Amino acid sequence: MIMVSVKPLFVLISTLSLFLAIVLLSPSTPFLQPSPSANSLSSGKSDIWSVKRIVEWRPCNWWLQSYLTPLPAKSNGYIRVNCYGGLNQMRRDFCDGVGIARLLNATLVLPKFEVAAYWNESSGFADVFDVNYFIKQMNGFVKVVRELPPEISSKEPFRVDCSKRKGQFDYIESVLPSLLKHHYISITPAMSQRRDRYPQYAKAALCQACYSALRLTKSLEKKANELLEAIPKPFLSLHLRFEPDMVAYSQCQYSGLSPTSMEAIEAARGDDRKPWTGEAARIWRKRGKCPLMPNEAAFILQAISVPTNTNIYLAAGDGLMEIEGLTSIYTNVVTKSALLSSEDFKSMHGNTKAALDYYVSINSDSYVATYFGNMDKMVAAMRAFKGLHKTLFLSRRAFSEFTSEGLEGKQLMEALWKVHKEDFVMGRGSALPDCFCEFEL
Ligand SMILES: *[C@@H]1O[C@H](CO)[C@@H](O)[C@H](O)[C@H]1NC(C)=O
Ligand SMILES: *[C@@H]1O[C@H](CO)[C@@H](O)[C@H](O)[C@H]1NC(C)=O
Repeated sequence: MIMVSVKPLFVLISTLSLFLAIVLLSPSTPFLQPSPSANSLSSGKSDIWSVKRIVEWRPCNWWLQSYLTPLPAKSNGYIRVNCYGGLNQMRRDFCDGVGIARLLNATLVLPKFEVAAYWNESSGFADVFDVNYFIKQMNGFVKVVRELPPEISSKEPFRVDCSKRKGQFDYIESVLPSLLKHHYISITPAMSQRRDRYPQYAKAALCQACYSALRLTKSLEKKANELLEAIPKPFLSLHLRFEPDMVAYSQCQYSGLSPTSMEAIEAARGDDRKPWTGEAARIWRKRGKCPLMPNEAAFILQAISVPTNTNIYLAAGDGLMEIEGLTSIYTNVVTKSALLSSEDFKSMHGNTKAALDYYVSINSDSYVATYFGNMDKMVAAMRAFKGLHKTLFLSRRAFSEFTSEGLEGKQLMEALWKVHKEDFVMGRGSALPDCFCEFEL
């Protein structure tokens, strides 16, 4: 099936420039010429990106080409979305909030980006995203105001916390009454909700907000572009998430870690996050709950025939542990801290760094995620939106299942190749189904 895109020019230009880039770079393209070491390890297969895909995800037509339902004449009140966590989690919640505001026929106020303690900073929405662009792009999808009317601006919104609600949660039943009563409320969207009950115009507002209306501020985009330009091309962006907070959160046990890593993980553990032990730990790991170590990620990259001389940009935080496990095999690895000037790097906040990783990753030749986190989902979706399909999630589950069955070496590589090839061919797990549709190629 062929999708008629509303952005044919954009697609054409990006296709052409991609093609041009490939032609210009092909004599030395590491993606096309597996190095001898990768060859010997993966029986000389061509890399995973040259496997023929049969399904891909693209933004759905009902959203891109939707005839806009007129906005209600009268607004039911003002909604501010309060967002918490890392940059991409805040973005996800904000996108949800835009859908909710439209669902409730409310007017959207710019969100509040709260920042989790470990970020230690105060980057707000306007520090990261281009507000004017957002408001312009949301025209017709939902009413947005920059300033509240004077009679409301002096008071704090009434807080409706939906973040812990699960299951049959319905915003019209649970939140609309508070909105009508207080006229100005703040919400943190629920983890799960009845989006199936949303009218299409509310879903379209969510999709438009998340994928068409958020772009980085001019100054951040300039910085991100400098970083992008400094990375050797073509390159793979690798999101490794083997950081103390993540490992502590996962409640997984690892053997063979350095004392420094063990200390960092212990320091990040709360009392309620003790690691599983014994049989429970084994089952937990087998279910794919444990973040991949850099050496495990490197092993899987080899299994999917990513040559060991590939340029890799590490889209990762500063706390990455056991990185030698990757860099001893993949020798062309670059990091932000090496490419940015040290003043730049030091003055940057966690959100700013996360924004740079995001930007580089939605513009890289290929993207590989080792986890299924908010950043990975957002990047995969934006890449699908932009027609970039060299995106893959490494399967922690397959890795732990195969290793627990005793597979190793070449056999393990072969099994991992099959699983990941299948995922790539079927476009599995690479986009958010809400705003994206499967297209058969
Ligand atoms: C929102 O407005 C539309 C008409 O524009 C109406 O059909 C719908 O019921 C309204 N929803 C709420 C929650 O007020
Ligand atoms: C957090 O910020 C405070 C005050 O700006 C500073 O003293 C402290 O060292 C910072 N902590 C971390 C972990 O960066």
